[in-house]
Amino acid sequence: MIQDIVKQLEPLPPKSKLIIFGGGYSGQRIASVGRHLGIKVLCSRREKGSKGADFIFNADHELSDEIFEGATHILSCIPPLLNGKDPVLSTIKPQLLNSKNLKWVGYLSTTGVYGDAKGAWVNENTTPNPQQERSIRRFSCENEWIETKLPIQILRLPGIYGPRRSAFESLLKGTTKMIDKPGQVFSRIHVDDIAGAVLFLINLFSQGKNPSLVNVADDIPSNNLEVIDFAAKLAKRSLPSKVPFEIAQKTMSPMALSFWQENRKVDNKLLCQKLGYSLIYPDFKSGLENCYSQLKLNQ
Ligand SMILES: NC(=O)c1ccc[n+]([C@@H]2O[C@H](COP(=O)([O-])OP(=O)(O)OC[C@H]3O[C@@H](n4cnc5c(N)ncnc54)[C@H](OP(=O)(O)O)[C@@H]3O)[C@@H](O)[C@H]2O)c1
Repeated sequence: MIQDIVKQLEPLPPKSKLIIFGGGYSGQRIASVGRHLGIKVLCSRREKGSKGADFIFNADHELSDEIFEGATHILSCIPPLLNGKDPVLSTIKPQLLNSKNLKWVGYLSTTGVYGDAKGAWVNENTTPNPQQERSIRRFSCENEWIETKLPIQILRLPGIYGPRRSAFESLLKGTTKMIDKPGQVFSRIHVDDIAGAVLFLINLFSQGKNPSLVNVADDIPSNNLEVIDFAAKLAKRSLPSKVPFEIAQKTMSPMALSFWQENRKVDNKLLCQKLGYSLIYPDFKSGLENCYSQLKLNQ
């Protein structure tokens, strides 16, 4: 519930205006929380008429200066272009540099930039070692943002899940795959904690607690089978047999395969211990219980 996110946040200065480039899954949730905190939020989408589109941004034309009037905070949730460039900076960097009231500029990146850690923990001091093409592009965009010298904060996210995007969707469609790769873990973050962390970090930034990089992950990286098992028990669904990774990989898409080629645990101590953010869903069990309750509400 939005109140669970809002209740642990400090209000932002009343004249704050947050512009979100890429009002997709995370962007819309962040926008809702910002609006509940009483600030003005505008979200972009690529096509007119898309739900939640306050303005159109499709990375091939400049924007009216009106959008930027009074903007205090900017967040980009848009992935890199295939040429490795950042879509926002490629198009409107001069307007961003001219926005004199900006107090915080956030960029949602991925923990993919750490590359494979062979199951070890990675934190913000770990040297990035992106191995997949998309992670190389992502790391290049992070650097593009840093080079702007705007008041930038990069949030590195692992797998995002939440209502309408969790283990339940494939369980209900009967398309769940029980891929068995012992020792493999994935870190995750519930979309409500992305929204909570963004607004929490915005507030701290203005108080001088402004690390340029923050991992936003939950406490317990876990194996995919544990997650599916837990979801199946909640939804009272039976599961197909396990398939060893060595067999499953023969029919995986290159994208799916790329996720299984990297194994790391994402450390959240900076966010949760040093900065003091309290996760709403500290592990997949509490997060999936939330997803399941939302699913039942919508049935
Ligand atoms: N999904 C994950 O598990 C995961 C994990 C780590 C990091 N991330 C990254 O975190 C960010 C937020 O993730 P999400 O899952 O919330 O994203 P999402 O739902 O896919 O939303 C992405 C947004 O970016 C917009 N967009 C995409 N390409 C664009 C372009 N070339 N020009 C203009 N707008 C463009 C989309 O426009 P429309 O609304 O018009 O489609 C959408 O609003 C993304 O950068 C994502 O890559 C995702």
